[in-house]
Amino acid sequence: MEKWLFLVLLCPLLPAPVRPHEPVPLPAVVFGVCLGIGTGGFIWNFFSSGESCKELEEVDIADLQEDLENRLFGQHLAKGITLQALSGFLRNENPSKALAISFHGPTGTGKNYISQIIARHIYPEGMKSRYVHQFVSTLHFPHVQHLDTYKDQLQKWIRGNVTACKRSVFIFDEVDKMHPGLINAIKPFLDYYDYLERVDYRKAIFIFLSNTAGEVISKLALDFWKAGKVREDIKLSDVEHQLSLSAFNKNNSGFWHSSLIDRHLIDLYVPFLPLEQQHVKMCIKREIMDRGIIVDVELISKVANDMTYYPKDEKVFSVKGCKVVSTKLNLYLLPTIMDRPRNLNIFSGFFNFVSWVFWGICSSISNFFHFVFWAIFSLFLNIFYIISWVFWGICSSISNFFNFVFWAISSLFLNIFYIISWVFWGICSSISNFFNLVF
Ligand SMILES: Nc1ncnc2c1ncn2[C@@H]1O[C@H](COP(=O)(O)OP(=O)(O)OP(=O)(O)O)[C@@H](O)[C@H]1O
Ligand SMILES: *[C@@H]1O[C@H](CO)[C@@H](O)[C@H](O)[C@H]1NC(C)=O
Ligand SMILES: *[C@@H]1O[C@H](CO)[C@@H](O)[C@H](O)[C@H]1NC(C)=O
Ligand SMILES: [Mg+2]
Repeated sequence: MEKWLFLVLLCPLLPAPVRPHEPVPLPAVVFGVCLGIGTGGFIWNFFSSGESCKELEEVDIADLQEDLENRLFGQHLAKGITLQALSGFLRNENPSKALAISFHGPTGTGKNYISQIIARHIYPEGMKSRYVHQFVSTLHFPHVQHLDTYKDQLQKWIRGNVTACKRSVFIFDEVDKMHPGLINAIKPFLDYYDYLERVDYRKAIFIFLSNTAGEVISKLALDFWKAGKVREDIKLSDVEHQLSLSAFNKNNSGFWHSSLIDRHLIDLYVPFLPLEQQHVKMCIKREIMDRGIIVDVELISKVANDMTYYPKDEKVFSVKGCKVVSTKLNLYLLPTIMDRPRNLNIFSGFFNFVSWVFWGICSSISNFFHFVFWAIFSLFLNIFYIISWVFWGICSSISNFFNFVFWAISSLFLNIFYIISWVFWGICSSISNFFNLVF
C-alpha cells in the first residue's frame, strides 16, 4: 500500500512545464536519463521485493471461498472442511498448535490443486512464495539410507523457515511414500508446545497430501451412487467410519502408522471424492476458458468421452480424475488449428487479427517507453529548473547583499566627507567672516 503512495507522491512532479523544443544540453539529458534509470531501478527493487510474512487477518476468506466455488469441482466435503478450518485458524490470534490438515483421495481429484489455491490466498505469489514450502517425498527424500540426513535437514528447514516467518505453509506431497521415521521428525512441530527451543510454531500450516484410503473413498462414493443417493449427501462421518475400518490400519502406508495418528496431531482428514463425468466436463470447460478459447459444448463432450471411467460397466468415475484434461484438450485443439488455412475467410481474418495484435503490442510498448522517457526526462529537467532557481535566488541575494553593503559603506563615507566638508566650510567661513568683520 505504502509503496503506491510513495509513487503517487512523485507524480505531481511529472506533468512538467517542459516543452520538447526547448534546447537541452546533451550531457544533461544523458546524465538525467542515467540517473533516472538508476533511481528507477533502485526504487523498483526496493519496493517490489516487498513480499511480506502474513501474520494475522490478512487473508480474505470470502475470496478464497469464491475461488474454491469457481475452480474446485465435485469436492463439497473438501471445500467445506478446508474453508472452515482455515477461517477459524487464520483468525485465531492464539492457536494452541499448528494447523495440520491431511488431504487424501484417489489420483487427479484436486489435492495439489486445492493446496495451490490455499497457498495463493495466503501469499499472492502462491507456490513460488518464499513462505510456502513444498516437499515431495520421492523428490526430496528418495533414499532410505540417508534417512538421518533427511531428518536433520528437514527439521533445520522447518525451524529456520518458521523462525523467519511464523505463518509459513509446508506442503508434504506423496506422504504415503514418505518414510515413517521422517514423519516422526515433523511431529514436534505439530504438537501442543507454546515455544519449542524458543520458536513458536503455532501459526504454521502443514498440509499433507496422499492417496491413502483412495480406494475406500472411491468405494463409498460408488455405493452412494449405486444406492441412487446424491453425492452431496456424503458426510464426513460416513467417510471417517469407513476409514477407521480399513485404511488407517493398513501396514504399508507409513503415514497412518506414525505417532501423528496416535497422538491426534493431525487436525483434519479431508477426503477427496472421485470425479464423475460431469465434473470432468467442468474441468474441461474451466481449462478452455482459462486458455481464452470459445467454449464449445461439442468439444467438451468429445474430450470428456475420451477419458477412461470405472467401474467397467457403469463408467461412473474418471480413473485419472481431471489430471490429464489439459493434455487431452491439446490433442483435440491441434487439428482445428491446422484446419484453419483451408478456410480463406478465417485465414485472412486470422492474419488480420495477428496484425492487430502486433500493432497493439508494439504501439503500447512504444508508448510506454515514450512515456517513461518523457516522465524521467521531465522529472530531471524539473529538478534542474528547481536547482537553477535556487542558485539564482542564493546568488542574487549574495550579490544584493554585497551591493547593499558597498552602497551603505560608500554612502556612509560620502556622508562623512560631506559633513566634514560642511563643518570645514562652516568653520572656515565663520573665521573668514570674523576677520572680515573685524577688518
Ligand atoms: N476437483 C477438481 N476441480 C477442478 N480441477 C481439478 C480437480 N481435480 C483435479 N483438477 C485438475 O487436475 C489437475 C491435477 O490435479 P491434482 O494435481 O490436484 O491431483 P492430485 O489430487 O494431487 O492427484 P495425485 O494424487 O495423483 O497427486 C489440477 O491441476 C486441476 O487442473
Ligand atoms: C526454508 O525451506 C527451504 C526449503 O523449502 C530451504 O531451502 C531453506 O533453506 C529454508 N530456510 C531456512 C532459513 O532454513
Ligand atoms: C505388515 O508388515 C510386515 C513387515 O513390516 C509384514 O510382515 C506383515 O505381513 C504386514 N501385515 C499386513 C497385514 O500387511
Ligand atoms: Mg498430487
